[in-house]
Amino acid sequence: MKIPELKIGDIILKAPIIQGGMGVGVSRSSLAAAVAAEGGLGVISGAQIGFDEPDFETNTLEANIRSLKAHIKSAKEKSNNGFIGVNLMVAMKNYAELVKASVEAKADVIISGAGLPLDLPKFVENTKVKIIPIVSSLKAARIITTSWKKTYNREADAIIIEGPEAGGHLGFKFNDLTEHTAQDLETITAEIIEYFKSINLNIPIIVAGGIYNGYDIAKFLKLGAQGVQMATRFVPTFECDASEEYKSTYIKAQKEDIIITKSPVGLPGRAIRNDFLKNLEENGKENITKCYRCLNHCDPADTPYCITMALINAVKGNVNEGLLFVGSNAYRCDKIESVKDVMKSLLKELQEA
Ligand SMILES: Cc1cc2nc3c(=O)[nH]c(=O)nc-3n(C[C@H](O)[C@H](O)[C@H](O)COP(=O)(O)O)c2cc1C
Repeated sequence: MKIPELKIGDIILKAPIIQGGMGVGVSRSSLAAAVAAEGGLGVISGAQIGFDEPDFETNTLEANIRSLKAHIKSAKEKSNNGFIGVNLMVAMKNYAELVKASVEAKADVIISGAGLPLDLPKFVENTKVKIIPIVSSLKAARIITTSWKKTYNREADAIIIEGPEAGGHLGFKFNDLTEHTAQDLETITAEIIEYFKSINLNIPIIVAGGIYNGYDIAKFLKLGAQGVQMATRFVPTFECDASEEYKSTYIKAQKEDIIITKSPVGLPGRAIRNDFLKNLEENGKENITKCYRCLNHCDPADTPYCITMALINAVKGNVNEGLLFVGSNAYRCDKIESVKDVMKSLLKELQEA
């Protein structure tokens, strides 16, 4: 079987694989470029991307914009003009500024979840930048597609459906995740495919959450998806932008270490139960000394911890004081590989399947 291409408007990806954006700093230009060079879509996370800029503490927005633009440019160069996307969460305070910066820096695609990106079309008007919302239910897919059509007379260029096995923040109720009563990815995908047929909307369906090997990819392509988004599998790679300590925590993680936790973003998330989360369980709240004003709905007086600080600690290697997001399959990671090898085995398995 020939590997099916993923077409997103005039973008043609030789591998039907999007590398999921991972903040803070886990997917920057190194990982994104490596995936793009192998024919997938490399995705940079824009969340607090300037964390290692000298003026991040005093001039956070400018530092983030400068760093984001530099990473987009670098990823395009390193991948020899491969396709590069930027993941920006709607829940972030400077969402609009970061979308505009991504467009200016010539990102190919903007991917947005953690809220409904209802205004996203406005920021890319008169450009070729593709826009892809992330949803976790038929309801969210319906609201976004209806609103974009009505307000901007435009369609999404593709849609990412993220199921309950994904890493990072999850668009499901906490109890449905812990009690395994959340709708599964297969069911949500079937519902959205059916709905799109009913309204004659013909855009690529991309699925995410718990996809680990080429056989998983094949399964979802058979169910009617055109591509997948994968994140966890790309963390234990040489090119991933996180610290060695971050990657080795993934390698060491056992199934029982992977839990659902509450995040200051107001959504549940899947993470590794490390010292940081154990301390929070005991103490309830950490002492917050500085607010980075990163989220629309976060009050330092009553948030249990500062998510910016926790994610920066983790990516820099201070993993015991940091928050490490993971997909439910992270316990299966057992070695650090090159992105080239990961992509090769994914495509080989896909072909076999
Ligand atoms: C470490 C980590 C960080 C993530 N950060 C983000 C993020 O900033 N924004 C976002 O939309 N999704 C984020 N995600 C979700 C991924 O982009 C992806 O959709 C999801 O993890 C796919 O499931 P998988 O990890 O099982 O492949 C993150 C996932 C991980 C594992």
